[in-house]
Amino acid sequence: MAASCWRHLAWRHLTTTFIIILVALAEGQRLPDGFLESLPLPHEGSSSRHIFFTSITYPLSCEAFTMKGGLFGEDLPWREGRQAFRAFVAQAPHAISFEQQDTMSRFAWRLSSCWCSCGSCPDLLRVCPIGAVTALGLMQLSVSMSAASRVASFINMQSTCAHMDPYVLILRLPPWSELINTGWPVFGMMYRIAQQLRADGLLEENLDDIFATQLSHGAQAPSWRRGAKTFCQLLGYGHGPEESACPLAQAAALLGQAVQGPDAAEAVLRRAQHLVYGLLPRVPGVSECMQAQNLHLGLMLSSHGRMLLEGLYRLQLHLESWFQSPPGDAGPQKICPVGGAQWQGEWLLETDLLKDFQAELEKSTVQWAQPVPATATPPRAREAWVCTLFAGPELPWRQMALHVELIRTLAYSIHRVSLQPRPFVVLTEASLPMDLQEELLAEGFRLEFFHAPTLAMKVPSGYEWKLGWFQGRKLTPTMGQLAVWNLTSYDTLVMLDDDMLMIQASDELFSIPVFAMSHDPMPLWSEAMGQSKQSRLNNAARVVHPNKRLFRRMVKQLQSGGYRNHPLINFWGYDLQSLEDTFWGLESSRLGIARFAHSGHFRGCDPRLPGIASRRAQLGLLTGDWPEENKTAPVDPVFAHPMHCVLPADYNFFVDFKSLFSMIYFGVHDPKQFSTRSLIKRTTDFLYRSGSLVGGPKILHWPGSLRKPWERIHPRVRSGWDHLWWDAHERMCLQSRVGCRIACTSPEKQSWRDRERARDARSQAGVPFVSGF
Ligand SMILES: *[C@@H]1O[C@H](CO)[C@@H](O)[C@H](O)[C@H]1NC(C)=O
Ligand SMILES: *[C@@H]1O[C@H](CO)[C@@H](O)[C@H](O)[C@H]1NC(C)=O
Repeated sequence: MAASCWRHLAWRHLTTTFIIILVALAEGQRLPDGFLESLPLPHEGSSSRHIFFTSITYPLSCEAFTMKGGLFGEDLPWREGRQAFRAFVAQAPHAISFEQQDTMSRFAWRLSSCWCSCGSCPDLLRVCPIGAVTALGLMQLSVSMSAASRVASFINMQSTCAHMDPYVLILRLPPWSELINTGWPVFGMMYRIAQQLRADGLLEENLDDIFATQLSHGAQAPSWRRGAKTFCQLLGYGHGPEESACPLAQAAALLGQAVQGPDAAEAVLRRAQHLVYGLLPRVPGVSECMQAQNLHLGLMLSSHGRMLLEGLYRLQLHLESWFQSPPGDAGPQKICPVGGAQWQGEWLLETDLLKDFQAELEKSTVQWAQPVPATATPPRAREAWVCTLFAGPELPWRQMALHVELIRTLAYSIHRVSLQPRPFVVLTEASLPMDLQEELLAEGFRLEFFHAPTLAMKVPSGYEWKLGWFQGRKLTPTMGQLAVWNLTSYDTLVMLDDDMLMIQASDELFSIPVFAMSHDPMPLWSEAMGQSKQSRLNNAARVVHPNKRLFRRMVKQLQSGGYRNHPLINFWGYDLQSLEDTFWGLESSRLGIARFAHSGHFRGCDPRLPGIASRRAQLGLLTGDWPEENKTAPVDPVFAHPMHCVLPADYNFFVDFKSLFSMIYFGVHDPKQFSTRSLIKRTTDFLYRSGSLVGGPKILHWPGSLRKPWERIHPRVRSGWDHLWWDAHERMCLQSRVGCRIACTSPEKQSWRDRERARDARSQAGVPFVSGF
């Protein structure tokens, strides 16, 4: 490894590049034609499907990884590397200690290691594209031992361009307005390199000769008048005052406006990027790849370019103080629930996709929805809403307190829209701390307790690995939710998860006389197993008629391990949802979705099952040959043999990025064939036409362990649905007697100006350029 890595030093040099390509070929990693175009970088919604399947939690900042997707690079120390790079670029060049330099170098090597003939570069770029590009950039400061070799590697006289060049890749990364929010010091890296080049003696005046020599290798004559002193002149922007019309000068000047405040920044960044990258066709170079390299070389050497890079770096620090949520909490009584979502800005693009989806859904709703009226009939004797609150002794108080606040928000949303008031039961454990119990009682909740040891999740030996769901949530495996069947002091219960929000009255659920559970509109497993007739249950919403006998039988069956080799369990893992799905699939017949009459009363359940029936039918929507729905009368399950029904997606509508994203790209092999908008439209139509959605979302759901609305602290990264959650939360807190805990400090608002002042003071003191380190 060492030999090929050290050759990587002067990797822009002809022979070296050649060696690298040979090494890559030998390793079976040939970069095929069009490789660059096919990179699934996150800004390319259409091909970033893989990003989802790598289960990379925060694909831009690479802050945390949950499950591994088997890609090279997932185990690399991205977080530590990012910290080292940030520390490095934040130091004035003369103040860099040997240790800092050494640390930066080590991480730069590791995070770009696919070039050292180990690992896969396409994988690496999928796993953490921005981190990899930053590392590749810093390699240039790390590998060159002398000013001469640094300069030689920069000016690329041979015009041999590698597509793994950071300045070529950078054009494929998300737009500046996103890059700047990912925590990776991309612009700081470029600014540092620019400083170093200057210290090494490379000047803007040299560009003229460099480009002319490059072109002569490609037997091309320069297209500009030789003797150009500046990059702008070389690009055709005249001399003297005319030069101020140069887009680089404009872009640098624009940035001055961006630092006036974070709100201006996004628009200014878009405009500045447009100005700079719009220059690309004018930049000399024997190929597009070389033009990309030369553009960045020009940026680094020209005074306007350096001003721009410095401005971008400073702006990034500003924006971070705005978008970055403090990992700590806002006070002893406050909880800032950001988790790994410190770099809030990395969700900008996702948020925009969610907004597009919501807009398209509204159009499909107008076209396809059959309104589902809620019944205003007063409750029959004993009805209630229920939510489970895990409160095992292993859980920290703050986690339970957070969930108490989520349940209160859900209950508030239900109370606000429901036609009839019903009690709200919190199904929890006796170990729930007294202060939280009292809080819930004071807010009008009823408490019921389940006995956790009786409901322990028992996994047959050798199957412990199937407990992934609980491990991911740091929970002791238990089936606490099943205890809803044990609450026989109620006739009908509707149980919801605490990551849900009701936006329209759903009183009609209480009129369903049989067990009913929500479904996943995208039952991938059925396809994987060649079964297309079964909807997959999703246990976030359910209608339950408590029954102790059934409860005991279910617990016994689930604890027996009898389902351990069931295909559903094998495919999805040993989680409660799949176990329940298996139990109900074997115990009774599954009908389609519950239907309601205009009065809002239960009418029966469809014979047809909702959701994606087959890939072909689903793709049919793209070409418009979707089969007409068969109008069959609903079946009343009460009079048939044991049956259960499926709830329409109206009562469990997924609004998180991961679910919608995978639904949008489901079954699409060649995303480039379709515009994202047409795929979104296909999905929203599909939800109605496949029978999953009937009248439109009534209860929203943010499934999965990430991307919860309460993690979206910054308003700019909230979808319309996230805003609804925050609105309900805020109103709930206002009318609450006990107050709320979710809060994140935003010290940035005061310190924006302070930081600026401190920085100004420092730059006035002058940061001298030094050569070397
Ligand atoms: C079921 O309810 C009874 C009270 O009706 C309670 O004693 C028992 O602990 C409950 N079982 C579980 C597993 O929670
Ligand atoms: C509609 O019903 C007919 C007759 O039962 C059946 O052949 C056809 O496959 C059904 N179509 C759909 C879309 O379910």
